[in-house]
Amino acid sequence: MKTLHLKDTAAGIARAARIIKKGGLVAFPTETVYGLGGSAEDAGSAKKIYEAKGRPSDNPLIIHIARAEDAEKYAYTTPLYYRLAKAFCPGPLTMILKKKETVPYEVTGGLDTVAVRIPSHPAARRFIEACGVAIAAPSANLSGSPSPTEAEHVAADLDGRIDAIIYGGGCDIGLESTIIRLDGDGAVILRPGAVTEEMLGRLIHVGRDETLLKKPDADLRPQAPGMKYRHYAPKVPLYLLKGPHDDVAAYMKRKLDEDPDAGVICTEADKALLRGRNVTYLPNDAEGQARRLFSLLRGYDGRDAKSILCVIPPRTGIGLAVYNRLLKAAGYNIIQVGITIPVIGLTGQSGAGKSTAAQCFEQLGGFVCDCDEIYHGLLYKNSPLCETLGALFPEAYRDGEIDRKILSATVFSDKEKLALLNRTAHGAVLDRVRELLRQAQADGKKFAAVDASQLFESGYDNECTAVVGVCAPLQARLKRITERDGIDEERALARLENQHNEDFFRVYCDEIIENDGDITSVCDKIGKITEKYVK
Ligand code: TXA
Ligand code: MG
Repeated sequence: MKTLHLKDTAAGIARAARIIKKGGLVAFPTETVYGLGGSAEDAGSAKKIYEAKGRPSDNPLIIHIARAEDAEKYAYTTPLYYRLAKAFCPGPLTMILKKKETVPYEVTGGLDTVAVRIPSHPAARRFIEACGVAIAAPSANLSGSPSPTEAEHVAADLDGRIDAIIYGGGCDIGLESTIIRLDGDGAVILRPGAVTEEMLGRLIHVGRDETLLKKPDADLRPQAPGMKYRHYAPKVPLYLLKGPHDDVAAYMKRKLDEDPDAGVICTEADKALLRGRNVTYLPNDAEGQARRLFSLLRGYDGRDAKSILCVIPPRTGIGLAVYNRLLKAAGYNIIQVGITIPVIGLTGQSGAGKSTAAQCFEQLGGFVCDCDEIYHGLLYKNSPLCETLGALFPEAYRDGEIDRKILSATVFSDKEKLALLNRTAHGAVLDRVRELLRQAQADGKKFAAVDASQLFESGYDNECTAVVGVCAPLQARLKRITERDGIDEERALARLENQHNEDFFRVYCDEIIENDGDITSVCDKIGKITEKYVK
């Protein structure tokens, strides 16, 4: 089959629409990635899509429409659908609804639900309108490889297998849309994207599919069928590097000394260290990382690299989507560098019993760092941290010391100041944690646990072998806080309200410990976790 290369002009789009009406396939640009479109009302077109991509036919397609109301023809809409469409569409959000008969089961992989999306890319919108039907479209890549963010990527994968490609330049966002399942008056994120959890969370209650950051297995099946398959993978095997930044950079440098062809994707901050080497950079901002990621991965196809090493970027905002794609692209292969003894991060809500869990690690022979204690320890009179904080927050500084009450009051209602304090304090605490862990490793300790209530906020989760979250019922937490800190229930509640809820820890942590107040059962569970991660 000869694939037509069309321009995104009126004539090009009219031509593309004629192809769709005849049951053919056209790749088209969207703001996320290029899609491979066929009529959503035609079972035959869906079959051709699966064939062209080499995609398993139980992996359903997303249908693309021009306006929110166009969904009526294909799905049972709900008030929540319209509310979210009004807030985020046209744009990178896909909603799962109950399907109507107009959508053949071939499109939905046999499911009774259908995924609906309203793209914002002008060429995509003109194309859908010209077709006059909804367009069923997966990403326009061969199944398993990174999604295409340029028309040239589509051509590399699908030239000769589809009828036409509309050339529309680079995709703005670069990662596929956020997929959500509507759930009562809230939603569950099945695939993270540019409509972030934070954005959705301002309007509705959001949860996450448990498998967003975990390797699916027989017990853990993703709710979006497609997410169980190997995905986004470059032809050369990809490994993610976990560890202190300096160690990661040094590891990359060593690898390049051994093999100048090795693939290396580092941060812009490493430019100086790796100057003159053949490496690629992820931009500093998460949006830039999202835009560049797939293109960077594809850039290694056809090169001599035997493997690609990549840094792990922070996972907040759209960073969560970047990390989700990287994990899948790497087949969950992570190399821990620098501190090579297993490090278990220990976190959870206040009063849930982190210190109890920490004691269990200690009894098992692990080295334990308590970040709270370290922070206090760094704030002695005239210490470097006191002086740094004193320069940033003079109102809380007196005679070489920091008044923590005044400091808390200063940052309490000022997000920027709070972020500045956190960056500074976390940086100092983590440097000390790394120093202590290196020492423990040299002393022959076999593993360590780092007890940190702000584990995720500080980004230290990226350096942990596994993260354990401690959860406990609200009443038990309140009781522990009021007794331990001598405050009343109202203040304890106010403190808890400012923290992440339990859902957050269930999704983010690799393991959860339910603390029912029985220390033996907590230690039993810690024992099992230690066996699993400490080889
Ligand atoms: O940004 C995007 O969403 C791009 C552009 C082209 O719109 N499309 C895209 O499609 O990424 P695709 O086919 O590569 O990914 C669709 C994902 C799959 O993981 C699939 O399992 C899930 O959506 N999905 C589709 N229908 C579903 C349904 N009814 N229930 C649950 N998951 C569904
Ligand atoms: Mg895809």
